[in-house]
Amino acid sequence: MELTINGQQYTVADEPARPLLYVLRDELGLTGTKFGCGAGICGACTVHVNGKATRSCQTMLATVAGAQITTIEGLADGERLHPVQQAFLELQTPQCGWCMSGQMMTAAALLAENPNPTHEEMIAAMRYNYCRCGAYARIARAVMRAAELMKEGAV
Ligand code: FES
Ligand code: FES
Repeated sequence: MELTINGQQYTVADEPARPLLYVLRDELGLTGTKFGCGAGICGACTVHVNGKATRSCQTMLATVAGAQITTIEGLADGERLHPVQQAFLELQTPQCGWCMSGQMMTAAALLAENPNPTHEEMIAAMRYNYCRCGAYARIARAVMRAAELMKEGAV
């Protein structure tokens, strides 16, 4: 089975019912995507599938063959951080960090679709990404800051 991840082609075992998360982490070494609940609830495993924020623990390989998959490792443009990464770094957003790649992937998908969200729209998009450290206020500020950076074209 062929997968396209971060613009690269990978050949993986043909196991259509295997969750993408396990292949990313256990086979391909793309461990930036985290295992949280394994049940589609927490958002720690969020990646992009054809640009949409998608929970990789609930995404079977059969559904992503031929799709464009992006993980946190592919979010930056070479050395140039994505505005979301830049903002999370600037505002020192993570506490333990475990939820953060999922937070950033959800935020990046939101801003790709709506580069100028209201606070309410941002909360609506981010509300199902859980942070057990409770860094929600910093996460919210960072997503709005990323929108500003995109507007300024600063990154
Ligand atoms: S690990 Fe996938 S939603 Fe929690
Ligand atoms: S920073 Fe620890 S779970 Fe969010």
